[in-house]
Amino acid sequence: MKFPKPKIVSFRDEIEDVNNTSYLTHSLYYHPAKFIPQIVRYCLNKYTKNKGKTLDPFAGSGTTGLEAVTNGYSATLTDINPLLEYFYEIKLPEFSAKEWSKNVLIAEREIDTIFNIDISEIKNKKYDKRLEYWYPIDLLTFFTEIWGRISKKNKSISKVVLILIFFKISKKYSYAEHSMPKLFTSKRKRKEIEETQRGNGFGKTILEEARRELKKINKSVSELLTNYNLKKVDYYSGVDAYTFPFNKKTRADSIITSPPYLQAQEYIRTFKLEMMWLGYSNEKIKSFSKKEIPFRKPEGTITGQYIDKKRDRIKNKKLKEMFDSYFWFTIKALENASTSLKRGGRLCVLVGNPVMEKETVEIWKVIYEYFVSQKGYKLLDVFEDRIVSRKLFGGRKNNNPDGMRYEYLIVLEK
Ligand SMILES: C[S@@+](CC[C@H](N)C(=O)[O-])C[C@H]1O[C@@H](n2cnc3c(N)ncnc32)[C@H](O)[C@@H]1O
Repeated sequence: MKFPKPKIVSFRDEIEDVNNTSYLTHSLYYHPAKFIPQIVRYCLNKYTKNKGKTLDPFAGSGTTGLEAVTNGYSATLTDINPLLEYFYEIKLPEFSAKEWSKNVLIAEREIDTIFNIDISEIKNKKYDKRLEYWYPIDLLTFFTEIWGRISKKNKSISKVVLILIFFKISKKYSYAEHSMPKLFTSKRKRKEIEETQRGNGFGKTILEEARRELKKINKSVSELLTNYNLKKVDYYSGVDAYTFPFNKKTRADSIITSPPYLQAQEYIRTFKLEMMWLGYSNEKIKSFSKKEIPFRKPEGTITGQYIDKKRDRIKNKKLKEMFDSYFWFTIKALENASTSLKRGGRLCVLVGNPVMEKETVEIWKVIYEYFVSQKGYKLLDVFEDRIVSRKLFGGRKNNNPDGMRYEYLIVLEK
């Protein structure tokens, strides 16, 4: 099969009015493998001129959602990660500036109340045994008290703000290496946390940190609410893009998405500590990670000249299974999401080209082969862009230790 040649592009240079990747609420919370807002903006400007609705079935931190609603589009977002509903509620606000200011004041007061806790009184507090591994005991009881108070609050914007703040702080002040996406403890972090405990005590440090976080969140959300007339977003977190009934839930003019990476996944594991703080049982956490791509046994196989040739070259049985699971669930989830795409609608997919057993797998070619050759979609464009700052899952036991240096954007018309 003859494939089109990707056009070399730098999306950062193309979209001149966006010169940083963390403006507005884009960096409200850490999410691994976010895409840069410029890519979404490029797709919106070039392929979906009539505004309308855009869908991201693998929405992650919600980059597509924020770019859409600040540029006059409405959006639907779905993701397997159940925690994203907390981020989206603040990142893509549906409340007024007035409501927001009121809730910031409430959150501020509650942070102060939390820090009037008399630590000696909570010494024997019962805590979740699973969390012992991540904290020294004093810090664990302290955070247990804080999370207990937050969970007792009625559902409100200020409650979600506190959840976001303490997601971040409970990870930062744990043995987890919070600067890395994968959840693991490190000697460096242990030492640092133990020193914080021995020094001035952690209460004051954490109080200051919580106030700083609230200020940061307030600044970005206020800027968003003051300067933009935001369109509506529907979101469904904790749902599987492979089975979600997209065609019943939405009618989209475009899909702008980046599916999980072939060998660099485990998004749910990244958020495990946060889930434990919210009281998710191990079974519940597992029920989400089991549906993460590519951990399930596929019901079929994606075939085609290119994909078959690549599969034949992989000798390791486990890698071959992962390869087949990845393509089955990714392609079928994209196809499932596309059932909600209007005829003539655009499907924009951003993917990498990972290496398996020294073999480069160009994912965009598999997408092309399936959607263009087998399903009658029309190719509009394919681009190659250099990754500048995405922090992928590099390091530890990664089969692709250098990460991926290029990304590809394939644009199809239904
Ligand atoms: C590359 S990330 C998307 C990042 C997003 N573009 C952003 O800017 O933040 C892929 C996402 O797919 C999600 N995911 C993995 N398996 C899924 C499934 N079966 N259904 C829905 N989402 C899934 C992960 O939770 C992750 O957030």
